[in-house]
Amino acid sequence: MSDNLSNNCSVLLIDDESIAQDLIGDHLGRQPGIRLRYDQQSERAVELCRETAADVVLVDLRMPGADGFDVIRALRADPDHAHVPIILLSSEDDAETKARAFALGANDYLVKWPEARELEARIRYHCAAYQARRQRDAAFIELHQREEELRASHAALHQAQKMEAIGQLTGGVAHDFNNVLQIISGNLHLLKMLGHVAPQGMLRVENALNGVERGARLAAHLLAFARRQPLQSAVIDLTPMLTDMDDMLGHVLGPRARVITDVGPHLWNIDVDVGQLNNVILNLAINARDAMNGEGTLTIRARNLDADAARLHKVRADAGATAAPVAPVDYVLIEIVDTGVGMSDAVLERAFEPFFTTKPTGQGTGLGLSMAYGFVKQSGGEITLRSRPGEGTCVQIYLPRNEAGAAAQPADHTDVLAGGAETILVVEDEEAVRSATVAMLSGLGYRVLSSPDADHAAQLLGEGARIDLLFSDVIMPGRLTSLQLSELVKRDQPQAQVLFTSGYAEGLLAHDGKLPAGVSLLAKPYTVETLSARVRQVLRQRTAPSGGVIVNPASTAA
Ligand SMILES: Nc1ncnc2c1ncn2[C@@H]1O[C@H](COP(=O)(O)OP(=O)(O)OP(=O)(O)O)[C@@H](O)[C@H]1O
Ligand SMILES: [Mg+2]
Repeated sequence: MSDNLSNNCSVLLIDDESIAQDLIGDHLGRQPGIRLRYDQQSERAVELCRETAADVVLVDLRMPGADGFDVIRALRADPDHAHVPIILLSSEDDAETKARAFALGANDYLVKWPEARELEARIRYHCAAYQARRQRDAAFIELHQREEELRASHAALHQAQKMEAIGQLTGGVAHDFNNVLQIISGNLHLLKMLGHVAPQGMLRVENALNGVERGARLAAHLLAFARRQPLQSAVIDLTPMLTDMDDMLGHVLGPRARVITDVGPHLWNIDVDVGQLNNVILNLAINARDAMNGEGTLTIRARNLDADAARLHKVRADAGATAAPVAPVDYVLIEIVDTGVGMSDAVLERAFEPFFTTKPTGQGTGLGLSMAYGFVKQSGGEITLRSRPGEGTCVQIYLPRNEAGAAAQPADHTDVLAGGAETILVVEDEEAVRSATVAMLSGLGYRVLSSPDADHAAQLLGEGARIDLLFSDVIMPGRLTSLQLSELVKRDQPQAQVLFTSGYAEGLLAHDGKLPAGVSLLAKPYTVETLSARVRQVLRQRTAPSGGVIVNPASTAA
């Protein structure tokens, strides 16, 4: 116990006889470091203690109303004062009374009137002991908090490593799966285009194509979770998109639920793939619908959150939330809040895992939240869940602010099959995918050249082949990469366009998981409709050698 501990000591004296104040207060009041407060209201002992932040309580035993014993009981029953030192003052020098006082929780007992020096020494002793105890308790609490923080960051690290490992696995599976789907879908489309299939057979072909579509959705979700989906991101203002979602969400939730859209003023721009973000919100709304059983309120809120506010948000993300480290940058925060059944801690902990679902077989694949997680991470953001059983769920999506101006929204793709007569070089290492694609493009009227890899394609170009479009797989064996091949094309035939395709855009994604500006990508598996639309769209971007835009594609056919 150091000396300076007792240098600042608040003493509360409770006695019905004001002479106590004269006898005790007179001496104590003159001692350095001691503050004395005298009061007669023994019933208010707890409040007085709180008001004076007492380090020591001196209390008379015999008083009308609450006596000294009552004061001890009241203070010991109060959690804030269970340990405040209490010195009982009494004219009774009797062993029985003293024993009772100590049994009730008194720390000391002095017979009236104690000698001033001794009283001061005892007060200083109890005060220092009490202050040392509080310092020790505070240190314990701090230690406990540090341990909790350490445990939380260990858990977050473990969770991140687990998600990363599952991501690698799912990404690999999805990639192979997409190539298989591309072979099936390409051949089915070719069957349809050949036109020799009887109506009965056509029904089977359509069924098989529906299956391919379902498989493609699954693979897309897996890729999203693995943060390997090609994102066509653009700088946008979210406001119109969010306000336009009302109708769609109303349909999703059904007539008994309410949808509230609350978008803050002047939202900052963000750099994001709008189509995917739409998908994410749709998935979250479906989760909310299931959690609310069709009834309740779904609120979509969007706000600007500057770096400081984002940090505070993170600090408040305590119990009932999945932790996410929020970096010190400005964010746009989107919250999707429902009034549904909420989640237990056990569900909360695993909710982002792919294939984790609590829904009956056939009603949930467990990919909704995992694709949301992967997408948000890939977009440089953070996503957290806050939920408690019976208290609904709030999903928070933090997307980093982008200072650039918003781009114009690209026009929707058309569903009408559009062909052309230009020359397209198809580069694809998987033979079955290549032949189906070549056949589809030829069926659309294009002149098609094909190569099994970039080296062979470069050779064709070197021999003088003129093309309007290079349609190349991203990941291929061989010396040249697909990107190098595209550079070669741009250098030697600047009017030609490049369209990449992949089931897995790894090789094309920049370090931030986004496609480089100006790169066009068609994700596998693609239908003949999306292929035709995308090819036409890319071909429309060609500029004539003179610098003018080519208006009529057919007129430039090779
Ligand atoms: N808003 C919510 N309220 C309560 N529980 C939720 C909510 N959202 C997700 N969950 C829980 O998390 C689990 C995983 O959600 P996720 O969206 O990944 O899969 P799913 O909805 O079960 O299936 P899918 O989305 O693939 O159809 C759900 O099964 C459910 O238990
Ligand atoms: Mg879901």
